[in-house]
This record gives sequence, C-alpha cells and structure tokens, in this order.
Amino acid sequence: MQALDELIGHVEAAIAAAGDERDLEQVRVAYFGKKGEVTALLKGLGQLPDDQRRAAGQAINQARDRLQTQLEARRLALSAAQLDSRIAAETIDVTLPGRRSGQGGLHPHTQTMQRIETIFRNAGYGVATGPEVETEYYNFEALNIPAHHPARAMHDTFYLEGGERLLRTHTSPVQARVMENSEPPIRIICPGKVYRVDSDMTHTPMFHQVEGLVVDRDISFSDLKGTVIDFLRVFFEAELAVRFRPSYFPFTEPSAEVDVECVHCRGEGCRVCSQSGWLEVMGCGMVHPRVLEMSGIDAETYTGFAFGFGVDRLSMLYYSVDDLRLFYENDLRFLAQFR
Ligand code: DAH
Repeated sequence: MQALDELIGHVEAAIAAAGDERDLEQVRVAYFGKKGEVTALLKGLGQLPDDQRRAAGQAINQARDRLQTQLEARRLALSAAQLDSRIAAETIDVTLPGRRSGQGGLHPHTQTMQRIETIFRNAGYGVATGPEVETEYYNFEALNIPAHHPARAMHDTFYLEGGERLLRTHTSPVQARVMENSEPPIRIICPGKVYRVDSDMTHTPMFHQVEGLVVDRDISFSDLKGTVIDFLRVFFEAELAVRFRPSYFPFTEPSAEVDVECVHCRGEGCRVCSQSGWLEVMGCGMVHPRVLEMSGIDAETYTGFAFGFGVDRLSMLYYSVDDLRLFYENDLRFLAQFR
C-alpha cells in the first residue's frame, strides 16, 4: 500500500510536469503501458496472500482509473493550449486577394463569328454549314472554276490523298450545296473554317470565312450594296464609308471588292490601312447565271447576290489587334482579355 501511494505521487507529478502531448504520451507508456509500473503492480497481485489480494486489487484499480482520468484531462488541456498559441501566432491578412479558379471563355474569333451570325439572323437570314473536307466539284466546278482555270492557282489548295478530296479553300461551296437542296427564296450565311497552303506574318493555314447568299425574284446589285453597307456599319458600330470596286470572281458577274473606311484612322491614313484610308474587307457580286443553273435554279426567273469575307480580319480590326498570330498562340494572358 505504501508503494502504491508513492507511485501515485510519481504519476501525478509526471502528469503535471508534462509540457506537451508528446511528453504526456511518454508518461502514459511508462506507467500504464504493457511494461508500465502500474501495470506491473496489477500483475504482482498474484503473489500476495489470499486475504490481501482483493483489497490491494481494488485499491490499485481505483488509483489507475483516477490517474487515467487525470491524464486524459491534462491531454485535453495541453491540446487546447497548443491550439490557442497557434491561433495567437498565426494571423490572417483578410485584405489579401483570394485565389480564383480559372474561368474559361469563348475565343475572340468565336465571339466575332457569333456576333456576325446574330446580325444576319436579325435580318432574317438562316445559317447553313457544309463539310470542311470537300470535293473538287463543290469547291471549284460548281462555282464556275473548271479544271485549269487560272483562279484555281490562287487557291493554294490542300489536296487529300488520292487527289479527289480537298480541304475547302473558301465557304463558297456551301452556296452550291444549299441551292441544290432548296428552292428560292434563299437567304443564308455560311460561317466556317477554310484552309489554304499559306503560313506567314499575315496568313494562317486555317482561317474563318462567312459566305452570304440571297436568291429570289428581282434581286439586284443595289440589294447587295444595301446589305453589305448595313452589315459593315452594324458590325463596326459606326457610320463608316463603304466603297465597291469592280473586280472579278468566276462565280459572280458583275463582281466587286468592298472597302470600308479605316476603322482605326477614319480615313486619314495610318499603319493599319497602309496610309490608304481604306480597308479591303470582302468580295461579292451577282451570282453567275451558270452557277445558278448548275445547282438547279432557273436563272431566267431568279437572280441572286453573294458575298464572302474573312472573319479573322474583321475580328482583328474590331478588337484592334494588329498581329494575327496572337489569336493562335493560346497565350492565356492574351485570351483572358476577351472574356
Ligand atoms: N470565295 C471568295 C474567296 O475566298 C470570296 C467571295 C468573293 C465569296 C465573292 C463570294 C463572292 O460569295 O461573291 O476569296
């Protein structure tokens, strides 16, 4: 019993002396572990005479329970104290900016394409699409560009293996596909990707075009002019001057190229317009009667106009970006500006 009292004193002192949870764990192992001193006392009970064993056993068990309760209380107190001192030591600067998760967005060219679609849908146009892998027939022949026609040389074409299929060099083939499958009145635009063997400062091998086609009775060149002028002014959100220059395309007659007053200098002359005050933005014309006939439309009854332009160019002018390559490098610092 005396040994027990002494041991209780040691254990209580050790619990009180433990400075942190690790110290305390060592105390627990030393006294209550498998080889601990309190455990050893309990094991020693067997050697006591029968008449003392019961009383001693009770005393040791009571002491052990009480000490273990103390130990647990101390453990909780130490852990709370440790948390308090950590909270006191660590400060949170609530004025620091948070870490945002990155948010994606539509590519500027996609946004431009969508704006163009909206402008034409609002004017009553439908949107038609066609395959990027085309046949020579639709990309050239149906557009009045027969084999060996010099215009083919201007389309630096990617031919696919076998030479029968190619990557479309413009969105004009969709015109022919639509005319084959529908009756006038036709009023559509065809947005999409086109490809040419070309890659330098001002050309990418893939770029975007929008084709427009209107076929009905009594469609005239003035309908074409009004449509193109309205579109350019709505697109650039400005009353820009527009001019039509006579030109040549095999699929339209007459044909014209369209210039818009430089959106940058408003006609004064600057680097963007090479000092001319004008920007060349699209080709257009009255659909050639032969093109109408090839696609099964009666050219005696119907006339039509068509136009085609590059979306990437309009996108650059609209956003005032002067290097085309920026759009295709996927540098998030550039792209994030268009979210
Ligand atoms: N397809 C022509 C090109 O890629 C653009 C074009 C010119 C389309 C005149 C037309 C048009 O519909 O009438 O250069």
